[in-house]
Amino acid sequence: MKLLGAALTIITTILAARGAQAAFSFTVSATHDGVAISASQVRLSPLPPGTQYGRHHRASTSLSGSRKPKTKKANKMRRANPAVQSANWCGSVAHPPSTDKIKNMHGWFQHPSCSARPGVASYPQAAAAWVGIDGDSWTSALFQSGTVCKIDNSTGVVRNEAWWQWYPSGAYTISSMPVAAGDWFEVTLNTTSATAGTVTLRNLSQGYAYSMSVGGGAALGRVDADWVVERPYYGGALAGFARFSDVWFEEAYATLVSGASLGILGANQLQIAGACSSAEFDDSEMEAWST
Ligand SMILES: *[C@@H]1O[C@H](CO)[C@@H](O)[C@H](O)[C@H]1NC(C)=O
Ligand SMILES: *[C@@H]1O[C@H](CO)[C@@H](O)[C@H](O)[C@H]1NC(C)=O
Ligand SMILES: *[C@@H]1O[C@H](CO)[C@@H](O)[C@H](O)[C@H]1NC(C)=O
Repeated sequence: MKLLGAALTIITTILAARGAQAAFSFTVSATHDGVAISASQVRLSPLPPGTQYGRHHRASTSLSGSRKPKTKKANKMRRANPAVQSANWCGSVAHPPSTDKIKNMHGWFQHPSCSARPGVASYPQAAAAWVGIDGDSWTSALFQSGTVCKIDNSTGVVRNEAWWQWYPSGAYTISSMPVAAGDWFEVTLNTTSATAGTVTLRNLSQGYAYSMSVGGGAALGRVDADWVVERPYYGGALAGFARFSDVWFEEAYATLVSGASLGILGANQLQIAGACSSAEFDDSEMEAWST
């Protein structure tokens, strides 16, 4: 698919604490069935301060019992990844060998349907599915894109949105990309250096593709490959974690600088106590589900 669409340039300036630093900037190109969407119809909205997709925070609670995958698949080999208890991420985080780095990331998933979690008083409730690089063992940067469902507390209305973020710069909602439960999204991240790269989010069913080329991002370590369903932050606090229909990540792999491939075999398998669990199958498939 061609991505030579009309380009929209948005530049924001980061005030470097000291010394010269390239400003954070990005360009957007968007297509529908391979035809460029005009810049005037491409809308990206920055999320308000304190509202973001955060880096990973481990939970101190210890794990009890063995994890059982929710789904049994006759033709799939269940793996035995080490389980890690998390406060906000659920899914797989894989690390390349210390002599190598992540260059590209890939994965697709179906945007889930969401419902309010009973007994949770904090609102809005939300769940975000995404693919990204870093933010786990590498805490100072995270390049990611995916979708989110958000349940408004006064109306109960579920809003589904596409978004991307180069943490700690703020997240952008891709307001002009409609998202519905059951839509298939493919995420591709290509890095060209520690501070530059392109993220492409495609709706496979309808042929929409949004591609953001970013420069001047906080330096990535390119050491964490993430396929995650997240409990995001709203107004500086963790949102209530909405219940969501099972999310399957497919063709989950990273390509390393050496050319080697990194899958989810041996990844840390993250779960959130009382809210979400996850299990891996073969080297490229992973299921995350509400508990
Ligand atoms: C909705 O949530 C906001 C922020 O948490 C809160 O200020 C407001 O009172 C809530 N409204 C209702 C109807 O619960
Ligand atoms: C994505 O595909 C689904 C069908 O699976 C469609 O209903 C939806 O409108 C599409 N979204 C966009 C942004 O085209
Ligand atoms: C970007 O990453 C994807 C997924 O790994 C890969 O198929 C594609 O060739 C990469 N594109 C470039 C320009 O490197």
